[in-house]
Amino acid sequence: MKNRSKHYLIPAVIVLSLVVYAGAISAKSEKVSNQQTAQRYDSFRPGAIWNDTNGKVINAHGGGIIYYKGVYYWFGEHKITGPIGNTAQVGVHCYASKDLYNWKDEGIALHVSDDPHSDITKGCILERPKVIYNKKTRKFVMWFHLELKGEGYSAARAGVAISDRPAGPYTFLRSLRPNAGIWPLNFKKSWETSTLQPDSLKGWTPAWMKAVEEGLFVRRDFKTGQMFRDMTAFVDTDGKAYLIYSSEENLTLQIAQLNDDYTGFSGKYVRVFPGGHNEGPAIFKDRGKYYMVTSGCTGWAPNAARSGVASSIFGPWKALGNPCVGQDSALTFHGQSTYILPVEGKKNAFIFMADRWNPQNPIDGRYIWLPIEIKEDRLVIKWLDNWSLNVFH
Ligand code: DGJ
Repeated sequence: MKNRSKHYLIPAVIVLSLVVYAGAISAKSEKVSNQQTAQRYDSFRPGAIWNDTNGKVINAHGGGIIYYKGVYYWFGEHKITGPIGNTAQVGVHCYASKDLYNWKDEGIALHVSDDPHSDITKGCILERPKVIYNKKTRKFVMWFHLELKGEGYSAARAGVAISDRPAGPYTFLRSLRPNAGIWPLNFKKSWETSTLQPDSLKGWTPAWMKAVEEGLFVRRDFKTGQMFRDMTAFVDTDGKAYLIYSSEENLTLQIAQLNDDYTGFSGKYVRVFPGGHNEGPAIFKDRGKYYMVTSGCTGWAPNAARSGVASSIFGPWKALGNPCVGQDSALTFHGQSTYILPVEGKKNAFIFMADRWNPQNPIDGRYIWLPIEIKEDRLVIKWLDNWSLNVFH
């Protein structure tokens, strides 16, 4: 017995020393890689790993950005490892930057709740958060797409939270379906009284498509409020704010004006591209015109982007086609639109922001930022491996 234990002792010592040595090596390489990853950036590298100023991968998916007093604030979904990461386990993450390349972690701006009765209880689905600033109330207002825990994507609600500071913390106010009991501004009188019901028609037939265009789902949801899924927020030059969201079973976009304090709806809203099946709306204004980029509806999988232009935010909107050009343009370079960012201090300078989703491991979703060119009659987005703000004049 004694001899045998000696036999085991020698290999055990060797193994232990190897483990200690390997540990030392890996600690050393981690340190080295930390030094490498906490580098300063001076360009955008679409689709590449993008670290914050601590050298940690930026975690702000489906995001949007506001500019306030010399600083950009990027808000997005904090994702975690594995498919569970598609549900909200943490909340909305915020980063701050002065140059758009280097982002400092500002922490979680809105936390999911530990209260199982809260609409934003941990495990709900909280997507595409966008923050706008209300100059009159001096409050930062965050809107997002909310799905109640355990209900899949059926709740289709809008969530709203406010804060006195851009980076938060934000206090959740409520969730709701927009504009209950109110017809859209561009809705025909005869459509209000139609008796057609969604289950009396076979889906995707010409008759069903016509009924969708004529407000089949607006009518169905009239009393409870309109469905609210992929969304963005926009403050116009006159201070009026709007939410643009996929509604009516994702078949039609709606643009709804917010009330004066931006925490509720004013009751004015329109339908855009009825039956057009758009998601991922992103919007900007340039030289008096409103431009929109959206995706089609294929879940997490990429598809071709679409674009549109209007002289008034409430339309009519004219379709402009796929703004992406070149290789992989039919798949939006494997991304999906989330926001369009006006670059401060530059004219006609806008950045198209998209997510390259990774539903099996959402934390490893990547960001695609590309410049948008505004041509006479269309928008153009080209792939660039590496670019800087110098592309704007
Ligand atoms: C596509 C949407 O754009 C995402 O935000 C998310 O809701 C996925 N669908 C879910 O499949």
